[in-house]
Amino acid sequence: MTKDKGKNRGINKEIACLAAFASGLLLLAGGFVIAEQSKTGAFASAEFSKSRLCSTCHGNIFGQWDGSMHSKANEDFFYQAMLQEYVKAAENESLPQTFCSRCHTPIGVVSEELPPMDGSRLSEVSKEGVQCDFCHVVVESEGIGNAPYILEPGNTKWGRALETSGKKRASAHEIKGYELYEEARYCGMCHNIYHPENNLTLAATYTEWNESSYAEAGVSCQACHMTPGIIGFAANPGKAASNGPEREHIYTHFFVGANAFVTAVLGESRHEKRALEFLKQAASLSVRAPETAKAGERVDVEVEITNSGAGHMLPTGVTEERELWLELRVKDAEGRVLYHSGSLDEKGRLEPETTVYRTVFADSEGKPTKKIWEAESLLSDNRISPKASVLEKHSFIMPESALNPIRVEASLYYRSASQEHIDSLFGKGSYTVPVIEMAAYPEAEKTSIPGFGALEGLGAVLGLLYLRLSNWKKEDEKSRKK
Ligand code: HEC
Ligand code: HEC
Ligand code: HEC
Ligand code: HEC
Ligand code: HEC
Repeated sequence: MTKDKGKNRGINKEIACLAAFASGLLLLAGGFVIAEQSKTGAFASAEFSKSRLCSTCHGNIFGQWDGSMHSKANEDFFYQAMLQEYVKAAENESLPQTFCSRCHTPIGVVSEELPPMDGSRLSEVSKEGVQCDFCHVVVESEGIGNAPYILEPGNTKWGRALETSGKKRASAHEIKGYELYEEARYCGMCHNIYHPENNLTLAATYTEWNESSYAEAGVSCQACHMTPGIIGFAANPGKAASNGPEREHIYTHFFVGANAFVTAVLGESRHEKRALEFLKQAASLSVRAPETAKAGERVDVEVEITNSGAGHMLPTGVTEERELWLELRVKDAEGRVLYHSGSLDEKGRLEPETTVYRTVFADSEGKPTKKIWEAESLLSDNRISPKASVLEKHSFIMPESALNPIRVEASLYYRSASQEHIDSLFGKGSYTVPVIEMAAYPEAEKTSIPGFGALEGLGAVLGLLYLRLSNWKKEDEKSRKK
């Protein structure tokens, strides 16, 4: 896992200039050679291969990518709904029409099939969103954020520097290795978003990672999102191509994060399940509360939420949409609820007093907005940094009738967007945003062994053990009450 090497930027630039020279993407300014990010209309979409073509030899990798949010980046109905709102605003306010599409429909932009922004002129290959041939003809990145990629479509596919022992030619195409592919700044091209006009930071997954101890330890985005290990690197032995050699590790292409909403609606249950698995590895809870209290006494309950597994803030990405919150239930010995917070009403609305971990942007009038193009300032950001914790303090007065001991139950929940926002975009009853439990208290101890198989196996055993123990406890309590 190579860490981001800021120092190598100079060398990378030289390589980029050479590459740009070859493709004719060259500017001569006072003797200096400047490589520029690929522009609208630089290519024809026919210069890019459809992903199906790659699947003849890279069948496994195709199967992983197919159904991922990268493969749905253009099609995604949630994105499309927000895009159409952006397009309306862009027409009035002279914002760049294709701003969103440069990340969500990259081939459509560089081949000038957008605008029209309804997508009616998009070719099949553009509709594939962030796809194989787009990603593997990136010859350089001009920096972080707003998609500053330099492309060179053609017969050479760029990738990690495979240990080819001099064998540089695959059966179907040339191969060039470039360390950019092993570095987080490759992903940083699109996973930081800045406002197209006022430059406000709208999303900063790369920066959050870069400032974390994961960056220091050399644990890249690829280590968690392109290997079977969710909270670090785990090897995946196999073949990169069906007609290639066995290798000790092949990078996976599921690109799973936290999206169990759109993946489920689009019928991509493999990716949905993986997203649920990711969310369950990201956080942990610990609780401090007294076991007993006298009637009329104040009871203080403290819940510590730790971002234990995500290599960036929790949540990250488009966090004006995402919601993370704690539901807390305190019961007495007979199961009567003494205190309850963080619940949802029948319309899926959160109790207004609930602390929601997210970012809130303000428009020019200082009012909160979910439309990032209206954002002029950041109103609040209370998200949880990597490896850090936040403390939630709750208290209540012990009622007269309550029976000791006090029992605390806590759940940490995530959803991709508020139900209200989805209802306002698509109409009530169109979609139900799933509410996903990331962590719970009390719960059997989690282990930190990376890898799906190991975790599922061990988790199942621990889960069974926990069930047995808690059933046994219940039996025991029942017999004592009699
Ligand atoms: C006819 C078979 C075939 C087809 C079709 C094919 N490839 Fe390959 N590709 C290979 C072989 C063989 C290798 C070398 C695998 C190895 O050495 O482990 C390879 C390697 C690669 C690599 C690895 C480079 C590296 O160093 O990480 C990338 C990237 C790649 N191919 C991308 C693509 C893309 C994108 C497409 C579709 C546009 C595609 N390939 C189509 C056979 C093919
Ligand atoms: C978001 C960009 C992206 C997309 C989309 C993508 N790849 Fe990759 N791919 C990468 C990166 C980055 C690596 C190298 C990861 C590393 O070395 O850390 C890689 C690695 C590879 C490798 C080498 C694997 C290995 O470990 O030996 C092959 C082959 C490959 N990709 C083929 C494909 C094919 C085929 C598709 C489409 C089905 C595809 N890629 C889609 C970014 C992408
Ligand atoms: C060309 C721009 C681009 C590049 C480069 C790129 N991504 Fe993405 N990525 C996107 C877009 C756009 C989405 C969101 C699609 C959507 O939700 O509609 C996305 C989604 C994701 C998701 C899914 C998030 C979720 O909520 O489930 C993960 C994980 C991810 N990317 C990881 C990576 C990693 C790791 C890399 C680097 C190897 C990378 N991406 C490179 C544009 C990009
Ligand atoms: C230590 C492992 C780790 C590293 C390193 C890491 N991630 Fe993640 N990532 C996770 C986990 C676990 C989740 C699921 C929990 C969450 O949403 O944060 C996640 C979620 C995401 C999401 C979905 C967020 C959402 O709520 O929609 C995106 C996008 C993403 N990661 C991109 C990246 C990018 C880009 C990098 C590198 C700059 C990166 N990740 C580095 C573990 C990691
Ligand atoms: C610099 C690249 C970039 C630009 C520009 C960009 N996005 Fe995205 N978008 C992403 C990435 C990366 C994600 C995934 C992050 C995550 O999962 O939280 C994403 C996710 C989304 C999502 C969430 C989709 C889902 O399924 O949950 C919506 C909605 C969205 N973008 C809308 C837009 C709109 C509208 C614009 C233009 C105003 C835009 N984006 C511009 C990169 C970009």
